[in-house]
Amino acid sequence: MKLCMIGTGYVGLVSGVCFSDLGNDVICVDKDADKIKQLKKGNIPIYEPGLAELVIKNYKNKRLNFSTDLKKSIKDSDIIFICVGTPTKKNSSSADLSQVYSVSKEISSSINKFKIIITKSTVPVTTGDEIEKIISKKNNKKKFSVVSNPEFLREGEAIRDFIFPDRIVIGSNDKKSNRILKNLYNPLISKGAQYVNTSRRAAELIKYASNSFLATKITFINEIANLCEKTGINIEDISIGMGLDKRIGSRFLRAGPAYGGSCFPKDTKAIISTAEKFKTNLSVIKSVIKSNQNRSNLLLNKVYEILNKKIKNKRITFLGVTFKANTDDMRDSSSLKMIPALSKKGAIIKYFDPTGYKKEFKKIKNVFYENTIRKSVESSDLVIVHTEWNDFKSINFKNLVKGKKFIIYDMRNIYSPTKIKAQGFKYFCIGR
Ligand code: UGA
Repeated sequence: MKLCMIGTGYVGLVSGVCFSDLGNDVICVDKDADKIKQLKKGNIPIYEPGLAELVIKNYKNKRLNFSTDLKKSIKDSDIIFICVGTPTKKNSSSADLSQVYSVSKEISSSINKFKIIITKSTVPVTTGDEIEKIISKKNNKKKFSVVSNPEFLREGEAIRDFIFPDRIVIGSNDKKSNRILKNLYNPLISKGAQYVNTSRRAAELIKYASNSFLATKITFINEIANLCEKTGINIEDISIGMGLDKRIGSRFLRAGPAYGGSCFPKDTKAIISTAEKFKTNLSVIKSVIKSNQNRSNLLLNKVYEILNKKIKNKRITFLGVTFKANTDDMRDSSSLKMIPALSKKGAIIKYFDPTGYKKEFKKIKNVFYENTIRKSVESSDLVIVHTEWNDFKSINFKNLVKGKKFIIYDMRNIYSPTKIKAQGFKYFCIGR
């Protein structure tokens, strides 16, 4: 099978590389010529553990290639994956589908034999219907099939998630396409992945409903953590006690800062906007968004309380500023709300992140990047552990900053309160 991935962002690049590693011929296309040139040299535009090695290996053995020539790549391929961005529209909460539709037009003028056209980008319900309309303007419906095959890759774990997915969702009623796609995914199905065949619209909604449900689960446990703090209960006991019920499940029950990233905030908004189009009120998801937006204020209030409301000239360190570990992605990270708010109140902020300096804080007053953990914490009054990087999990603060003492606010619960307190540090965490 010859595969064409349109868009070499997160989804397109990771999926393309993994498909080539499974033995398929894959061409990854992007209109950004410099990106394509760099990829051919093995320079990867995104931070994802293990991705560079797989790109280099599969490019060398010629199963993976890169191109800017969209028309030729479509003509040469049997299966076309649309993997372009669907960001939130400016001044609205719905998804901007302009890239998806413009690519669909390009596909429509390059169909030379039967093609399966797949949306891997997260697209609202009925987008597949629209793509089909666009392509059928120039082509007989027998020459193509539009399928929804959403991705469930987490940043930082994307390769593992691709190789060992819980499920593969194929949204199509076309028998021929279903047979071909089941065959394509067979190496993963034979290792235990569930294959779920639904209507196209159902597959589109499965993606949004899944992300919204996970966002709800996190927000739920965050609110329960607030109650734990008031009642002297350890939130981790609650997560374990609830998670062992198979109907609930233990994953995504870690309390912490507001959820962020390029998906949950965007997709929860977009599903509400889709529902409104169909005159349906998704009140649960609406309150999740509200609660999550309020969470950074709640944690900021806790910071003010910890520092006895005296923030001016206080030296505050952030360990980790990305929205989660194993990524350099800053999109919708809660640090983007907390750091400017503390700076505005007169704090002097230093941060260390394993993925380096962040341009997002360039214009924020009194915010400085330090390139080692020690330099970032040594003169601090308060150290905030914002992201759960492994790099932070075994820090011995006592040895690191001999004789100095600061307060630690562990927003990811990565330390044992007894051990940290035994080292002589005042320690706060989430829901325990
Ligand atoms: C998410 C989904 O998990 C993927 O299945 C999906 O494919 C992807 O969006 C997407 O739509 O492309 P991602 O945004 O990369 O993946 O990251 P997650 O690991 O889901 O984390 C999202 C946020 O939730 C982070 O801020 C993280 O810190 C937070 N989180 C996660 C918690 O606060 N607690 C948890 O227990 C789990």
